[in-house]
Amino acid sequence: MTDVIDGKKVAEEIKNEIAREVDLLKKKHDKQPGLAVVLVGEDPASQVYVRMKGRDCEQVGIESFQYTLPEETTQEELLKLVKELNGRDDVDGILVQLPLPAHINESLILNTLDPKKDVDGFHPVNVGKLVTGDEDTFYPCTPYGCQELINRHVSDLKGKHLVIVGRSNIVGKPMANLMVQKNQRANCIVTICHTAAPDISYYTRQADILVVAAGRPEVVSGEMVKEGVVVIDVGINRIDDPVNEGKKKLIGDVRYEDVAEKASAITPVPGGVGPMTRVMLLKNTLKAFKQHNNIA
Ligand code: GUN
Repeated sequence: MTDVIDGKKVAEEIKNEIAREVDLLKKKHDKQPGLAVVLVGEDPASQVYVRMKGRDCEQVGIESFQYTLPEETTQEELLKLVKELNGRDDVDGILVQLPLPAHINESLILNTLDPKKDVDGFHPVNVGKLVTGDEDTFYPCTPYGCQELINRHVSDLKGKHLVIVGRSNIVGKPMANLMVQKNQRANCIVTICHTAAPDISYYTRQADILVVAAGRPEVVSGEMVKEGVVVIDVGINRIDDPVNEGKKKLIGDVRYEDVAEKASAITPVPGGVGPMTRVMLLKNTLKAFKQHNNIA
């Protein structure tokens, strides 16, 4: 029997734990965590994500400050806002939604964030700490959420071959760095494969655990995986629904039906990785709040 990994349920459990802790901290310290979310431009998918992040915060007692700026916002204006948020005492975490419009230098903005408020874990200082295994950092939310799901489904990760499809800075590369570390939650043999591979199935077939973050629909099919693999599908692709004309549907980067036949466990889309990414942002914001206020 294939185990369908219910990310929504796990995320809900973690969210409840966070809500309880925030409530206790509020009572004890008369303060609540604050997250600033900055969106530049009108990308519809980003607008949805940002709105959901605001709602998640509200549900656990984190104050959310949302900044929706027009597409024409200059780099200088955005830098000014980031610096202002860096200095604000009521803002513990800052998230600048990516991608930014082409006229804004993304690395310049990320480099300007205070690493202690960088709840996305994208600042080079935090990226470096992830690579060296220094836990005084923030792990990028999607890989962190994937790791949590893997940990709940695989008891002994030591020496397992974890194969990642995709080399993005947001998922593929941090996922590899997280899972190669020498600790109980990781300790895997890690391979990243990507578009330069003549045949990615050469790699995917070797996976005990397969994380697919290719950014394209259904790039992994049943014949590309081995029997018993654990599959984490990071993809979210909106396509025309073949059944309901005029409607859209969400599918992953994995061809779910035939991969599920061989997998021992698999995340669905939606309801797998997506809710985990969102809840890990709350977890990182709570961590930032505690550090900021010297709470153990
Ligand atoms: N765009 C897509 N994923 C992410 C994410 O995890 N964080 C930010 N800031 N932007 C994104």
